[in-house]
Amino acid sequence: MKILAFESSCDETAVAVVEDGRKVLSDAIASQADMHALYGGVVPEIASRKHVEVIAALTEQALVDAGCTRGDIDAVAVTYAPGLIGAVLVGLSFAKSVALGLGVPLIPVHHIRGHIAANYLAFPELEPPFLALAISGGNTLLIDVAGYTDMRILGGTRDDAAGECFDKAARVLGLSYPGGKPMDELARTSPGGVYKLPHAKVDGAPLDMSFSGLKTAVVNLAHHAEQVGEPLDRGALARDFTRAVSETLVPRTMEAARQTGRKIIVAAGGVAANTLIRADLERACQKEGRRLYLPPLKFCGDNGAMIGAQGYYEYLAGHTAGMELNAYATKEIEE
Ligand code: KG4
Repeated sequence: MKILAFESSCDETAVAVVEDGRKVLSDAIASQADMHALYGGVVPEIASRKHVEVIAALTEQALVDAGCTRGDIDAVAVTYAPGLIGAVLVGLSFAKSVALGLGVPLIPVHHIRGHIAANYLAFPELEPPFLALAISGGNTLLIDVAGYTDMRILGGTRDDAAGECFDKAARVLGLSYPGGKPMDELARTSPGGVYKLPHAKVDGAPLDMSFSGLKTAVVNLAHHAEQVGEPLDRGALARDFTRAVSETLVPRTMEAARQTGRKIIVAAGGVAANTLIRADLERACQKEGRRLYLPPLKFCGDNGAMIGAQGYYEYLAGHTAGMELNAYATKEIEE
């Protein structure tokens, strides 16, 4: 079954063709990051307009790259939530028109379910059940994945997402947007151990997290150093910041695995590309004898192929939609 998949929830327009949920036939992506970098973050209205500009041409490219004609497409999958509402609406409206025009089923896909499914593309043997750590620009969640479409949230951030925190910390360190990758590179230049940063706990909810205090601490440190004219050890701050994020994520992930008895742990989302977090997860899993799946870097960020992968399993579960399907800025992964 060949699925034409659309992703437009933030600042990447992506269209892919995926066969039977596992084989990527094409994966066309147009990133708008350079445009938003001018403003230090995503400007929602610009994101929507850029999606409109490129989505038709990108669809043609995805079909050509896959060696497919429109008649070869069996279904259309699309991110319908969560994300920037205008941006999601562009992909959803376009996908609806394609599904209607081709006379094929329309499959709604939750964006974070897609991030998790990116691992199915890289690891043919991977199947639920497993525990997922989804860490992206807008979400930070621990999810028990009992089946391809059967998910339960075990914990998550109460405020900022890990990626949001990376982006804001990078900004005060003078790094470009999106800040995760340059922060990763800067952190690797120093052993750290210079700055003491907060590791917040949520009372009565050991699997929940909070990153806003950490974000504010880094912002205050940078501003204070600037005001009093003290030199800032940027490498050490990047390292200590990343360590604080990792020391929040990794122990909770392991605790969730212990509580659920899951032997397999799967990482997903843009922040899963982080070198230090990947290494810490690997070490922790090795220690406890759990199998860890880390998506290849190209599948950590937003892409269309992951939506095609999850779309296949949603289709098998009978999750298709009509033309009344709406877009949502927020939606639980369980719904
Ligand atoms: O999954 P993603 O591409 O988009 C969302 O669905 O949100 O995640 C984007 C986030 C950004 O905050 C970006 O700075 C972060 O992932 N990111 C990283 C790294 N690469 C991207 N964060 C930490 N280390 C990285 N190497």
